[in-house]
Amino acid sequence: MVTEQGQDPHAHRRADPARDGGCDDGVLRVFVTTNLPDPGIGPLVAAGLDVDHRAVDGPPSRDELLAGVAEADGLICMLTERVDEDLLAAAPALKVVANYAVGFDNVDLDAATRRGVIVTTTPDVLTEATAELAWTLLLATARRVVEGDALVRSGRWTTFSPTTLLGAPVAGRTLGIVGLGAIGAAVARRARGFDMQVLYTNRGTNPVAEAELGATRVELTELLRRSDFVSIHAPLNDDSRHLIDADALAHMRPTAILVNTGRGPVVDEDALVAALRSGAIAGAGLDVYEREPTLADGLAELSNVVLLPHIGSATTDARGAMVQLCCENVIEVLAGRPAITPRNAPPAG
Ligand code: DGY
Repeated sequence: MVTEQGQDPHAHRRADPARDGGCDDGVLRVFVTTNLPDPGIGPLVAAGLDVDHRAVDGPPSRDELLAGVAEADGLICMLTERVDEDLLAAAPALKVVANYAVGFDNVDLDAATRRGVIVTTTPDVLTEATAELAWTLLLATARRVVEGDALVRSGRWTTFSPTTLLGAPVAGRTLGIVGLGAIGAAVARRARGFDMQVLYTNRGTNPVAEAELGATRVELTELLRRSDFVSIHAPLNDDSRHLIDADALAHMRPTAILVNTGRGPVVDEDALVAALRSGAIAGAGLDVYEREPTLADGLAELSNVVLLPHIGSATTDARGAMVQLCCENVIEVLAGRPAITPRNAPPAG
């Protein structure tokens, strides 16, 4: 049975608290926490799964989420949903969590592994889209696109002027990539078209990127000191939280631009506002924020920032492929087969 929870987001089935292991009726249930682009829940339905779809934009409340997973064998969730010990305890039948993102900082992977719950993400299918958005922000910030657009729309633009909205040159400059995974490498690849020198930080050396892109691995401080543009692609974890803090920002050039399409908390947003205000750096292009959707005080008032609403992977192709991959991961695991893009391994035996 397919349940579409379009109008009443609170109308989920409630678990019978007396039961301790989901339903024992042979039906495999999947809870989907929000509206999805095409193909939507189609693949799950075609696979004969019982889908409880909260077909509403925006994240469920914690209560809705806990109620939704109470009898679920599978969960398709967003980065806005915290999958932690408490949620896993409230979902005794859960076998697979398909996170609709390549990042998985919202999921307690160790807790899931301990409980034998497979966690999957959506790598690769969003790499090009996210790299394109990083470049969109880089160029839009450097060339003051948003300010220019506002000027034209306001009717205050009167004539061509040699001094209007002078921006930062990009060609031939240095691009620093913080975290050279698939997306960082895709951003670096595009820098070749601008004849840029590419520096990167990463846990390990990336010999392929070094050979193909001429990228050079350096320490973070050196990257910040030498780069005209710094693009963040490190995953969020205990090591990377506030990696770009006041001290790091102080190493950047006053002409430099920071781009973040990864995870907001990698940057100390209050420190960033201070650096942008004082002119310690020239600008920032942000798609992600420390406390989404809330912005740090003062950020929205700055003219040297371009701000987007976490749309790095938001092309029709990428978002559709993410849906398809989430569905396929759930279908595979619930059929007793290996997940396609797992982040953890099933329990031995
Ligand atoms: C991700 O995949 O981690 C993005 O933030 C959402 O597409």
